[in-house]
Amino acid sequence: MTHAERRAALEAIADEVRACTRCRLHRSRTNAVPGEGHPDTEVVFVGEGPGFNEDRLGRPFVGRAGDLLVKLLGSIDWRRDEVYITNVVKCRPPDNRDPQPDEIAACQPYLRRQLEALDPALIVTLGRHSMGRFMPGARISDAHGTVRPADPATGARDASVYALYHPAAALRTPAIERASYEDVAGVPAALEASRARRARAAVNPRAAEPAADVFAATTAAPGAATEPRGVALAVDARPVTRPDPATHPVSPTVPPPRPPDPSPMVPSPVDPDDQLGLF
Ligand code: URA
Ligand code: SF4
Repeated sequence: MTHAERRAALEAIADEVRACTRCRLHRSRTNAVPGEGHPDTEVVFVGEGPGFNEDRLGRPFVGRAGDLLVKLLGSIDWRRDEVYITNVVKCRPPDNRDPQPDEIAACQPYLRRQLEALDPALIVTLGRHSMGRFMPGARISDAHGTVRPADPATGARDASVYALYHPAAALRTPAIERASYEDVAGVPAALEASRARRARAAVNPRAAEPAADVFAATTAAPGAATEPRGVALAVDARPVTRPDPATHPVSPTVPPPRPPDPSPMVPSPVDPDDQLGLF
């Protein structure tokens, strides 16, 4: 998918979300919150659902939890406009109650389609409800700061999932805040590992099956968490390095995963500051 196609796909999903009436949460919302970020990013952060400020502004993580998320990203030298940020449910549950299973189920196609469009290398879950979508059965106290393969049924074709505590939990509990800084320090290395696996899969598609060559060495049981958590490696992993196939032809030694669609659209050059939904 080119930059322009990905951007258009994300905009189309956001338009549907803003008009959505698939679950009861549409009745109490002020604004739906589809998500925002860099359309070419390799990293998607997934929270639980909009809160008061997010509902007011129609943007994810813009209250106190959002301020902490920005600080956590800053601690690894990342910015929020380099990643994509969204939620499991796109409309605010009244009084910030937990989203109910039927609401999560009704909203699930939007997140799946966002992940299909973004094709991230890494999904970072924020809190229990988001983790539950990507690491079924895991406990946040065990899984935080660990990585595992994402089920392609989530919409993410070939991604790893890394679990963080929810920033709102970190705001309430100093020990969780400390753990969150340790955990986020492991995110760039998780991105690099996933990126390396995807690059190998592009050269030899059979190497992609299963994602286990990266995980097996450190994985005790299928689907179990890798070790160690929160290790800050000296890596310079930026979340946006994906070349646009429209402007950067793929090198002949790395065949593209599928042939480029003949597109009637004239591709626009990639603007490194290009992002959706912020303005
Ligand atoms: N908490 C969330 O889970 N998501 C937001 O967008 C804001 C706060
Ligand atoms: Fe639609 Fe999701 Fe909002 Fe429910 S939470 S109304 S499914 S966008």
